[in-house]
Amino acid sequence: MCGIVGYAGPSEASGRPLDVALDGLRRLEYRGYDSAGVALVTPGQGGVASAKKSGKLANLVEEIAAHPLPDATASIGHTRWATHGGPSDANAHPHLADDGRLAVIHNGIVENFATLRAELAADGATFLSETDTEVTAQLLAREYRAAGDLTAAMAATARRLTGTFTLLAVHADAPGTVVGARHDSPLVVGIGEGENFLGSDVAAFVAHTSEALELAQDQVVTITATSVDVTDFDGTPAEGKRFTVTWDAAAAEKGGFGSFMDKEIHDQPQAVADTLLGRSDAQGRLVLDEVRIEESVLRAVDKIIVVACGTAAYAGHVAKYAIEHWCRVPVEVELAHEFRYRDPIVDERTLVVAISQSGETMDTLMAVRHAREQGAKVLSIVNTHGSSIPRESDAVLYTHAGPEIAVASTKAFLSQITAAYLLGLYLAQLRGNKFPDEVGVLLDELRDMPRKVRTVIERGEYVRATARSMAESDKVLFLGRHVGYPVAMEGALKLKELAYIHAEGFAAGELKHGPIALIDSGQPVFVVVPSPHGRDQLHSKVVSNIQEIRARGARTLVIAEDGDDEVRAYADEIFWVPRAPSLMQPLLAVVPLQIFAMALAGAKGLDVDQPRNLAKSVTVE
Ligand code: M6R
Repeated sequence: MCGIVGYAGPSEASGRPLDVALDGLRRLEYRGYDSAGVALVTPGQGGVASAKKSGKLANLVEEIAAHPLPDATASIGHTRWATHGGPSDANAHPHLADDGRLAVIHNGIVENFATLRAELAADGATFLSETDTEVTAQLLAREYRAAGDLTAAMAATARRLTGTFTLLAVHADAPGTVVGARHDSPLVVGIGEGENFLGSDVAAFVAHTSEALELAQDQVVTITATSVDVTDFDGTPAEGKRFTVTWDAAAAEKGGFGSFMDKEIHDQPQAVADTLLGRSDAQGRLVLDEVRIEESVLRAVDKIIVVACGTAAYAGHVAKYAIEHWCRVPVEVELAHEFRYRDPIVDERTLVVAISQSGETMDTLMAVRHAREQGAKVLSIVNTHGSSIPRESDAVLYTHAGPEIAVASTKAFLSQITAAYLLGLYLAQLRGNKFPDEVGVLLDELRDMPRKVRTVIERGEYVRATARSMAESDKVLFLGRHVGYPVAMEGALKLKELAYIHAEGFAAGELKHGPIALIDSGQPVFVVVPSPHGRDQLHSKVVSNIQEIRARGARTLVIAEDGDDEVRAYADEIFWVPRAPSLMQPLLAVVPLQIFAMALAGAKGLDVDQPRNLAKSVTVE
């Protein structure tokens, strides 16, 4: 939630600080788009200049074009997902204090803001907005008047705040300096040549440098053009952790597609292939060096709990079927925000697997902390380097999906399933549930999936045409069984968040226990049909379910495997996917559902990359 960018450049004022801030905001806008704003340090021009506007970044750009800002030496920029105070111009960041000489931007929620506001008001401060951020700006101004040093003032401010925050500040007295602080909210440093950067994530600065520094919790960072200094909140010097960003800026562009989501759907074969890459030895045997948890501990694990939210949780649901089947160890999947508050039974023999694209989802981060406090080992499956969840886990398995910018997750889902399958196979091998050659066969099946995913994408036009013809739908149901069940839930989530249509995913077998009452004439129902070659007669059971709903008037839209002639007779529309082993089918079956939701939202004239009320990275609980 909220995108933050900071830049410190040469002492000669220029247009670059503004350009870097606006470019960073453009790349971070997926984190929130209720308002946008910048502040520039403009030596010789009155100290600090700022502009802010409610709505999307385009409004700010228009505002600056109409009222140009002066050249500068440093900048901060903010794109907002509103928490305290609605999305108005007044509540937009930056917030100013110290007679307009200090500007502050913030991501997170300051929980003690009411107390602090009362304290500052009693001290004579006046407030122009309803935000908690303006309170931090006034507090920072007071600390600055006392300390005469922006870094020390930031540390003192941070010590007074409760809740979650990343703060960036510039002051007219420190023309080439940006100071930041973080507590339970993301902030990374970009190390340039003769210039340095700050960002909520590396997308903010990857166009300028791929060298980065990860900050730990509760640190203050001060950047100038030539220096990066890190301290703890008590002022003790500290070190960040250097890393190199492995994708380039082009990966975070649309690459000729009409939307990031469309591009990211097309990225999926590569995302799966890259997640598999480098994870086997010369003999093709699975090697997961990143799993830095002692083998004896992993052998002793008697329960796995997956914690995640949204799409990542559905990836966890899919993984449950595979891991239990391969490893014969019970797997629970828990929404991260429920896990921590229900007194879960967790101990040293529990392996908690946290799945998160952003690595910053606060609910998941809190679940990770809770699990570790209870003595469990935590392995995270994360896409974003330099983020909080891997840093707080015992081990991390990175997905290599590249940047996912569209708010609706697509390639993250496929790469999370892939990584979780690798983990499952690794555990099966380690615990002796599978011989290496059996693991090898399953790995080969996985390695064949990018090709099959590409085939599904190539068949997308029929899905798009169907979606366009259904733009007036107001309720769509999704059914699946076994691994098809989480796919159905993911299909429904895509449609809800992109097209604002009421959509529900059900276990097909559950239908007759209630939901079938929802079916009336013409009701669209997607059905994910298992492979006719799979086990347990699941295929025929789902075909029966299709007949039951069709008999009640449903319009059936069926995802079926190539050559499944039996289902043909019961489908109003069929979206064919290549033949694959049952456990691999989710990687294929979800793709038409993604394309359908995107196309239907497009047909309704909606913004598929930035759906209303949402933000990509949910960094508040
Ligand atoms: O970054 P994370 O994977 O932790 O995010 C979890 C969910 O917020 C995310 O998957 C969300 O549900 C997506 N918008 C769904 O498309």
